[in-house]
Amino acid sequence: MNLNESVALVTGANRGLGARLVQELLRAGAAKVYTTSRTPGAVAADVAADPRVTTLTLDITDPASVKQAAAAAQDVTVLVNNAGVLTFGSALDGDLDAFERDLRTNYLGTLRVTRAFVPALERNAPAAVVNVLTLIALAPVTPMAGYSASKAAAHSATQALRAELRERGIAVLGAYPGGIDTDMLAGVDAAKAPPEVVAMRIIAALGAHQTVVFPDDASAGAGGVYLQDPLKLEQMLLGS
Ligand SMILES: NC(=O)c1ccc[n+]([C@@H]2O[C@H](COP(=O)([O-])OP(=O)(O)OC[C@H]3O[C@@H](n4cnc5c(N)ncnc54)[C@H](OP(=O)(O)O)[C@@H]3O)[C@@H](O)[C@H]2O)c1
Repeated sequence: MNLNESVALVTGANRGLGARLVQELLRAGAAKVYTTSRTPGAVAADVAADPRVTTLTLDITDPASVKQAAAAAQDVTVLVNNAGVLTFGSALDGDLDAFERDLRTNYLGTLRVTRAFVPALERNAPAAVVNVLTLIALAPVTPMAGYSASKAAAHSATQALRAELRERGIAVLGAYPGGIDTDMLAGVDAAKAPPEVVAMRIIAALGAHQTVVFPDDASAGAGGVYLQDPLKLEQMLLGS
């Protein structure tokens, strides 16, 4: 995907990885970036002031909000599904209501946004969809079992969409980071990659027409294991 003069839209762009993805898209030559957030005015003032940036309100779990954003951004050529939530809890004792919230956001929300933007992306093709997933979509970790399942569903949707969208001129990139140093993992004592590095590698992979990226050193190593032997990754992550 040639990002020069592209028109991108990033969900959950007000903080964390999403804010870094906006910066990388601008650095890669995007003509316009829609920075979307569920709270109006949440995008940093200096980013919003950039003449290439247009801010929109978008809650990916709200069908009316998704429809409104899609209607307002008809010129999009790159959709970056970054917004996500994480609930901690194991498969046996995690709160099922919270698991459902993760599924509604990470799986159904991502799918809803993608469906809403496909007509514009197809019209503006060549185009691309980037889904920010996680390494633990490919094998879970015990304390994040519900989140892993929601991202596994989004991973499956990513594969299904890749096949369906190819013939419409829309490429699909799945990104599978390991831990990133953002609010999502605040308080978790683990190795975390800087979000700017993860964002840079995701956008580089998009520019290089990749379909899959493991965008940090930890996920690159573990992703290599997964590609060789999926069961081995399961054993590594679950200690089983
Ligand atoms: N951090 C990690 O270790 C890690 C690892 C692998 C993958 N990821 C994935 O990377 C992506 C970005 O996460 P992050 O680390 O940047 O987390 P973060 O700092 O918690 O940011 C999450 C972003 O998603 C937005 N969001 C949540 N629910 C939304 C909704 N219903 N509609 C619109 N926006 C919504 C948040 O908006 P508000 O400000 O309104 O809450 C926020 O902008 C997520 O998909 C996450 O699963 C993260």
